[in-house]
Amino acid sequence: MRFESVKYLEWFKTRGKVRIDLCPSGMKGFSLKKLNLNREELEISGKNIHGYQPLCQAIAARYKVREENVVTTFGTSHALFLVCGALIERGDRVIVEKPAYEPLLAVPMCMEANIIRIKRRFEKGYQVDLKEFESLLLPKTKLVILTNLHNPSGVFLSRSFLKDLAGIAQKKGVTVLIDEIYLEFLEGEETQSSFSLGENIVVISSLTKVYGLGGLRCGWILASSQLARKIRRIIDYIYVDGVFIGEQISAKVFCQLDLLNKKNKELVEQNKSKIKNFIQNEERLTWVEPAGGSVCFPRIREGLTGDRLAAVLQEKYRTSVVPGSFFEEAQHFRLGLGVPPLTFNRGLENIKKVLEGF
Ligand SMILES: Cc1ncc(COP(=O)(O)O)c(C=O)c1O
Repeated sequence: MRFESVKYLEWFKTRGKVRIDLCPSGMKGFSLKKLNLNREELEISGKNIHGYQPLCQAIAARYKVREENVVTTFGTSHALFLVCGALIERGDRVIVEKPAYEPLLAVPMCMEANIIRIKRRFEKGYQVDLKEFESLLLPKTKLVILTNLHNPSGVFLSRSFLKDLAGIAQKKGVTVLIDEIYLEFLEGEETQSSFSLGENIVVISSLTKVYGLGGLRCGWILASSQLARKIRRIIDYIYVDGVFIGEQISAKVFCQLDLLNKKNKELVEQNKSKIKNFIQNEERLTWVEPAGGSVCFPRIREGLTGDRLAAVLQEKYRTSVVPGSFFEEAQHFRLGLGVPPLTFNRGLENIKKVLEGF
């Protein structure tokens, strides 16, 4: 394995002081008190070989799968690493969406996969072209990696589309890995997890973004029982069991997810309508409107790049947005929608001031 730096995360962790932070892609989260958890009921250690059973059961029930299809992980990042570790051998072709959240690219790369990109074009509303996808399925293709909702654009891939895509991949023996960390910002039948849409679909997710509970490191993989078994064997190389107290809290939180989601969704929808209005009245900006979720990816028409905008915002106003080049599109910048309304308003005012200066 070869570990190059993951530039976006390095940048994110070493940014200077920020006053108005529009970078985070998730929600702020809830305190233990707000979650109404009784600390007396929590224990440091307990039975959790292959995961804490009440948590595995809660995940299985929520996503309507069998417990044997669930592997609990330390967040989606860990889930990604395990799935790639289980499936990729050196020289395998792995298709990754472009633009992409960098770790989705870095992980198969560190496993010395041959990385192929499937373009999600701004002009095509960041959807995936099925014909183009099919043409990439050459021999030695092992895996395709997509996000739904898409990070950075927030665009949604429909269930019927994913079913077709998985069907095409299945014929060539290719696994489809879908990172659904943002999906539960949407509601209804159409936005259920895609796991059941094909035998070759693997889903990864966590409580990090929609629920703002990243500190719990509660993630999971939904996979065929055979792949899940293989992943459990890899886990034996890394640790014996999980963090019991965290797993206990996560299991209790699972009963409250719909309520927490409601509160968070109100905030992102409020901020989304503000940015929509802002872009409509700002001729230097355009975007593909996100289906929902906590990120969007505006494009600057001309005269300025997303990197320059981010640099000036930081320098003059201590306001932070993600430069588009971290998502391989320098004309863009990524905005987080999960921040408090006042912070969001002030951030937009500062963006306006910088745009006016160019
Ligand atoms: C698409 C995507 N997957 C995974 C992660 C990381 O997830 P976690 O904090 O659960 O490891 C992020 C964080 O930004 C993300 O955007």
